[in-house]
Amino acid sequence: MVAVKPLILALAAGHLAHAQLNTAAKAAGLLYFGTAVDNGDLSDSQYLPNLETDDFGQITPANSMKWQPTEPSQGSYTFSQGDQIASLAKTNNDYLRCHNLVWYNQLPSYITSGSWTNETLIAALKEHINGVVTHWKGQCYAWDVVNEALNEDGTYRQNVFYQHIGEAYIPIAFAAAAAADPNAKLYYNDYNIEYPGAKATGAQNIVKSIQAAGARIDGVGLQAHFIVGQTPSLASQKANMAAFTALGVDVAITELDIRMTLPDTSALQTQQSTDYQTTTTACVQTKGCVGITLWDFTDKHSWVPGTFSGQGDACPWDSNYKKKPAYYGILAGLQSGAGGSTTLTTTTTSTPTTTSSPATTTTTGAGSGTGAAHWGQCGGNGWTGPTTCVSPYTCQVVNPYYSQCL
Ligand code: G3I
Repeated sequence: MVAVKPLILALAAGHLAHAQLNTAAKAAGLLYFGTAVDNGDLSDSQYLPNLETDDFGQITPANSMKWQPTEPSQGSYTFSQGDQIASLAKTNNDYLRCHNLVWYNQLPSYITSGSWTNETLIAALKEHINGVVTHWKGQCYAWDVVNEALNEDGTYRQNVFYQHIGEAYIPIAFAAAAAADPNAKLYYNDYNIEYPGAKATGAQNIVKSIQAAGARIDGVGLQAHFIVGQTPSLASQKANMAAFTALGVDVAITELDIRMTLPDTSALQTQQSTDYQTTTTACVQTKGCVGITLWDFTDKHSWVPGTFSGQGDACPWDSNYKKKPAYYGILAGLQSGAGGSTTLTTTTTSTPTTTSSPATTTTTGAGSGTGAAHWGQCGGNGWTGPTTCVSPYTCQVVNPYYSQCL
């Protein structure tokens, strides 16, 4: 069922000026703003003090609920690492997005190298899903049931499940998850489906095939592992989200990070801020986009440098836990208004995002005249958008990277 986004709550200007990300997300009608957390992150003494703030109201275990860590030998489960993240969510009253049940990666060798038949692999798949989902029953706001099942052209990725079960493995997995936890939202999750194209169409076909099989799917996770200067335009991201929600499912940004080729520069940081703002705005302005999750919030613990040689600095906090311009881009996006009450300048091309500054004219209830709208950005290091505000608001410096119309 599609989540109904409440109207934007009116917040006092003083409050919102200093709003943290989760506070601003909820004010915008989202359920949460969150981040992935890996168990190893927690041994860094600086990590928790930065996580346990009003910036975050949701966490996702980056690794510890996957198949290899939870069922390393068939029928033998290890939940302690996943429990650590689930208990952190409980302590902090955070939403917990559980990740993931069926993926071609991080599988134990008894799955990838086993001698399976159609029947035995279906049985092992159902057994795994039942074992893991039952263990965290009632604790997961959502489960990423199937992760990354598609090739770039929208066809099914060859993996052990597809090879032995065929495309039916996907509705079978969703039905098993629904049976084990009727209250968890069940998601299909993938990357490069954040803009219209063959892969996004493939993901929409997966939604339809699950529904046609009579199984339940509640949402689609748009991972959003992006590259600075190459993110899809606001119009493209909003149209894409709408194509999913038209099928009766929610969407969520589930793994957002925006990497760059190092060395980092101030120009790259400014563009990165714009890019974060664009994706955040797309979610805020889409009914049925329920929340945004970073794939870790600090460059210190990002997966990017270990995977993409020469790239990094993808997160809104740097390696010293200092907020980057990207943080303020997200904040501006969260304050951009649900349903488009403040609109960004948009382009119809999918890449790169070059114009995402607040509109120079405004809309009902947000002031009058020319200049940035109420809550909009009006200055900051590298800012090239409007520097004045619509009446009666004035441009106030929040920090060197961000001035806001208050
Ligand atoms: O925990 C072991 C440790 O005991 C061992 O000493 C060490 C040696 O390499 O490996 C550790 O496991 C690593 C694990 O992360 C925990 O840090 C694995 O090698 C490493 O491959 C694994 O990488 C994870 C990756 O998924 C696996 O493909 C990343 O942390 C994780 O961020 C990443 O997350 C995925 C999402 O699940 C799906 N979408 C893409 C996203 C990024 O790749």
